[in-house]
Amino acid sequence: MRSLIDILELTTAEIDELIAVAEDIIADPAKYAEACKGKILGTLFFEPSTRTRLSFTSAMMSLGGNVLGFSDSTSSSASKGESVADTVRMVSAYSDIIAMRHPKEGAPYVAAKAATVPIINAGDGGHFHPTQTLTDLLTIKRKKGSLHNLTIGLCGDLKFGRTVHSLIAAMSRYTGIKFVLIAPEELKLPGYVKYEFLGDGKIEYVETTDLEAAMPELDILYMTRVQQERFASHDEYLRLKDSYILTADKLHNAKPDLCIMHPLPRVNEISVKVDEDPRACYFEQAKNGRYIRMALILKLLAEKDQPDTPRAGEAMADIVCSNPRCITSTEQELPHMFRCVDEEHGIYRCAYCDQKAYPKKK
Ligand code: CP
Repeated sequence: MRSLIDILELTTAEIDELIAVAEDIIADPAKYAEACKGKILGTLFFEPSTRTRLSFTSAMMSLGGNVLGFSDSTSSSASKGESVADTVRMVSAYSDIIAMRHPKEGAPYVAAKAATVPIINAGDGGHFHPTQTLTDLLTIKRKKGSLHNLTIGLCGDLKFGRTVHSLIAAMSRYTGIKFVLIAPEELKLPGYVKYEFLGDGKIEYVETTDLEAAMPELDILYMTRVQQERFASHDEYLRLKDSYILTADKLHNAKPDLCIMHPLPRVNEISVKVDEDPRACYFEQAKNGRYIRMALILKLLAEKDQPDTPRAGEAMADIVCSNPRCITSTEQELPHMFRCVDEEHGIYRCAYCDQKAYPKKK
């Protein structure tokens, strides 16, 4: 069963094909109006969403299919303690494909192992958000004409911003990419993202706290919201929430063809005055989400009998994942699975959430 948990499960050729199909849908939507007639999409949103859930709903309806699901875990039996695996096993019986958002990192991986229909990760905690990345890639391709040779500024909450992690993973496979990582010390990009996608000088990147100094070299400026819901301390959130606010005057030295993106929702990190700037692409970006999700639903339904991309990891009794946001922290029956990334120093990564883990000291 082919699912999509991590953007890197798609090859660049497959991403190019999805973008081509999305552009064809934009050009001639009527051609696709009955492509999923009789099919049902399950939308399991254990966490709030406007764009992702409704664009998935709109995508399936635009393909002639139907949608069922919940937008709030308190209205599902998860509130009675039902596990992710059991929930998904049941909804597999009622639908042909499932889009799932969950606050715990790695939950879609658990779902994909239990499901009998394809699972699409619609965002798991601060980990990954692959369909936002497909939306971002379609937007960049349509605005810039290519996914190569771009300097991309990522600004704001790079620690918890799952859209940033998936976008870096995807863009690191194209040539001539440079990342400018703009964040306060406390919200810098996690080590596992640097290690997996930018490591060993593979990809050029710089880290800075100064948005205005970085501005002139950027082709893309990807602003992000400080993720209030991921902070352990509310005071810490209040201290950091206004770290970066993009105002019209801060764009004075930006390129005339800069593309300003944001996965949305914004709180106040982009002033509404910037919306009037022709370089503001974020509402168009959100609109593109419907078309790329149509293309993805078509692809996964067409390939449902193909084997899933195996995610490396083996059960290990002497290692536990210490990430409190990992699905293994709440669903304690799950086997703890890891992959070794550094044999010499005995460093492992959790197969669910990708955080670093070490064997227990004997
Ligand atoms: N970009 C995004 O994921 O938005 P929602 O949280 O509204 O789905």
